[in-house]
Amino acid sequence: MISVIFAIDRNNLFGNKNSLPWNYKEDLQYFKEKTLNKKVIMGEETFKSIVSRNNKPLPNRTNVIATLTDYTFEGVEVTHDIFKYLDEHKDEDLFIIGGKGIIELTYKIADRLFITMIDADHEGDTYLNIDLSNFKLVNENISGILHFREYRRL
Ligand SMILES: NC(=O)c1ccc[n+]([C@@H]2O[C@H](COP(=O)([O-])OP(=O)(O)OC[C@H]3O[C@@H](n4cnc5c(N)ncnc54)[C@H](OP(=O)(O)O)[C@@H]3O)[C@@H](O)[C@H]2O)c1
Repeated sequence: MISVIFAIDRNNLFGNKNSLPWNYKEDLQYFKEKTLNKKVIMGEETFKSIVSRNNKPLPNRTNVIATLTDYTFEGVEVTHDIFKYLDEHKDEDLFIIGGKGIIELTYKIADRLFITMIDADHEGDTYLNIDLSNFKLVNENISGILHFREYRRL
């Protein structure tokens, strides 16, 4: 099963200076609950952003880096062909967690999307372009300005 998980604001803002434009504890907690003990696949920029913040890869998850460069990180698996990787591991519970490049490339083949839509405006430099017409909203939980939505591919 291939899932994609990310947050956007109501303007489709997604990132700022290779980091998140916001800091919502409840969303970080949701992300942790969904991905704990799973395989999390991310682009090189997102991986570097996580390591610069935490000084280590995401704990208690199998981290996988997608990149076209020769970037490596001790103890972390790297793929140079994300589609091949997803195809070879699709029977596992895979979570694609960012960033813009990797999500825009792969979301159309995902089985599920977990999107936190933040109903507010923020400052940032990176917007996400995705088309949800091939997905159906199957669940939504609203907590203040945070809309936790789950979509399934049609
Ligand atoms: N709001 C959220 O939930 C959220 C979550 C995560 C990240 N973000 C934000 O997203 C932004 C980073 O996104 P980004 O697009 O710059 O970087 P990214 O998606 O983290 O990294 C893209 C990487 O994928 C590589 N790539 C391209 N095609 C590939 C393929 N077929 N197979 C394997 N690897 C491939 C690229 O290589 P090349 O460079 O050589 O093309 C590049 O290294 C940051 O602002 C971050 O904060 C937001």
